[in-house]
Amino acid sequence: MTDAIRNIVILTGAGISAESGIDTFRGAGGLWENHRVEDVATPEAFARDPSLVLRFYDQRRAAIQEKLPNAAHVALARLEAEWTGSLLIVTQNVDDLHERAGAGRVLHMHGEHLSAWCTSCDIRSRWRAPLLGRPPCPACGARSLRPDIVWFGEMPYRMGEIYAALREADLFVSIGTSGAVYPAAGFVRDARELGKRTLELNLEPSQGSFLFHESRLGPASELVPAWVGEMLGG
Ligand code: OAD
Repeated sequence: MTDAIRNIVILTGAGISAESGIDTFRGAGGLWENHRVEDVATPEAFARDPSLVLRFYDQRRAAIQEKLPNAAHVALARLEAEWTGSLLIVTQNVDDLHERAGAGRVLHMHGEHLSAWCTSCDIRSRWRAPLLGRPPCPACGARSLRPDIVWFGEMPYRMGEIYAALREADLFVSIGTSGAVYPAAGFVRDARELGKRTLELNLEPSQGSFLFHESRLGPASELVPAWVGEMLGG
């Protein structure tokens, strides 16, 4: 697997944070089983009932601050530190567990819980507190902050950078994602069309599992450290 591989793009999803105690979205007990996407994760929902949406994200923002990175986040941070080629972690996750494990180059394509976006001045501020009380924007003072989360119907962030990295990559690895949400779910097909090697590490086969050259099934806290060990030569 490591032969001729220099540049790596890694896509992560909720499955990598599951063993840290953060809910995944789909499947039994998932966030979208108990909450309707249309009620909490669309611009229309925010316009209709901002308090409901802000309360939902305030709870999640508080919860992630109590959680800790697990062995999978730590292993990816180690790979990033020791890998001599380029490595980009593209995450669909809105937690900060990759960063807290020590990863430095993480692209949050679906936004971040610890960021607030002012819809008046368009400035994003680091944010840990609740938004429900409509606090003023630190930059302009307007009470126009919203969660810096990409809602359904909105464009994921930094797609140009992601596709540029995919074009340069030799290997695309997908970890802990169901492959249900595009455009991220399409990266494996894009990578295949570009002639890249592809690997999936997931608890169960994702929707696009058949598209990967190799699919390893199991918990991220076991699969990811084992794979990183292989990449770094034991
Ligand atoms: P999902 O909840 O759709 O999928 C999580 C995947 O992780 C599933 O395939 C599980 O089998 C797998 N999984 C669960 N526990 C695992 C473990 N311990 N080790 C390895 N894999 C495990 O989450 P995502 O694919 O990340 O978007 O969801 C994609 C997007 O849908 C999210 O970013 C979010 C959501 O709606 C927005 O909110 C914009």
